[in-house]
This record gives sequence, structure tokens and C-alpha cells, in this order.
Amino acid sequence: MAGHYDGAMSGTVAPVHEDIAEVLITADQIEGKIAELGRRITADYRGRDILMVGVLKGAFVFMADLARAVELPTEFDFMAVSSYGSATKSSGIVRILKDLDHEISGRDVLLVEDIIDSGLTINYLLRYLEARGPASLEICSLFWKRGEQAVPLDVRYPGFEIPPVFVVGYGLDFAERYRNLPYIGVLKPEAYGGRDGEAP
Ligand code: IMP
Ligand code: MG
Repeated sequence: MAGHYDGAMSGTVAPVHEDIAEVLITADQIEGKIAELGRRITADYRGRDILMVGVLKGAFVFMADLARAVELPTEFDFMAVSSYGSATKSSGIVRILKDLDHEISGRDVLLVEDIIDSGLTINYLLRYLEARGPASLEICSLFWKRGEQAVPLDVRYPGFEIPPVFVVGYGLDFAERYRNLPYIGVLKPEAYGGRDGEAP
């Protein structure tokens, strides 16, 4: 519905963070895409209640904005996972740090993720949730990295395709920082120094 979603950041012009080399997707672009995803989800789930399951921590920013762009009865749950593997690539073996609070059997579950890289994390979660008998199970991911998916994934609600580079902002972190940037961008090389010393 026109005018329903104004976006948390509209009207604000925040300066670009000094550690950011390049903004890949602006706050305005994100806002427009979420309004579009919200309209699609609202149309597709008309007459049903949605259970959004967010993947912590990265998805919390996206889920907050997406939730306000959906005009249907919606409940929320969260899972927290950590993926074994190197800092850059997940192994597909996921450790569950926080499980669901609620039963999902018979529910229309929308799995909300910030970014899909190899796809191994979301693929694991999909199988984990599927085993709990939801009425339906779909994925909404704001970003996915071009050409990086190790497993075929059916992402019903995709946002932006981005190049296979490490990005921060809009929920995405490097060493737990930058999640609160309203856009996504690439860090300057010197921003990695003093922590891991090199780019992820
Ligand atoms: P996947 O299992 O390889 O698809 O990795 C997905 C997870 O890795 C996401 O939930 C993010 O937490 C993290 N991730 C992947 N790419 C990036 C990035 O560019 N910046 C920050 N986190 C990322
Ligand atoms: Mg994550």
C-alpha cells in the first residue's frame, strides 16, 4: 500500500563512515527494496499469519524494517547460529547458539537472513526447520553474493545481488562492528588492521 512504509532512516542524511571505502547499496535503495519485498509478502500471504524467524545477529536490522513493511498479522522468533570454518568461509556445519522459542509445526514460516554467501548456513537452517513440520517455509534474504553459492537454493524473496566481496553495514559486521550503518559498504584495508590484521 503506497505510503505505508517510510523506512527507519528516511529524511536523514548520515555522512559516510570514515572506515568505509565504498558504499555498495545506499540506505534509499535498501528502503525501496524492502517496501517492494513487503508488498510481495503481503500479497502472497494474504489471509494467513506469518511467523518470521530471524537469523541473529545479522538479520535484526533487516527484520525490523521488513516487519514494518508487511501488513499482515506477524509473529517473530529468532535463532542464533555460528558456523564452523574459517573467518571467511562457512563449512556448512552450524552450531545452534539459540533455538526457537516457539513450535513452528503448522505455521507459515518466513526465514529472514541478512546475506547468503556460500548458502551453507541457510541450507542447514532450512533442513532444521523443515524437520519441525511448518505448513510452509520460505526464505527472504536481503543480499546474496553473485556466483558464490555452494548449494542450490530457492530464495523466494531475494533482495540485492552483490559482488563476492566482504561487506559491512545494515546488520552485517566485521568483528562485531559496523552493524548500525544504514547502508552496506566495503571497508578500507586499514580498518582491518589491529583486529585480524587482514581483510576477511
Ligand atoms: P554462508 O553460510 O556462506 O552463506 O554465510 C552466511 C553468513 O556469513 C551470514 O549470515 C553472515 O553472517 C556471514 N557473512 C557472509 N558474507 C558476509 C559479509 O560480506 N559480511 C559480513 N558477514 C558475512
Ligand atoms: Mg551472520
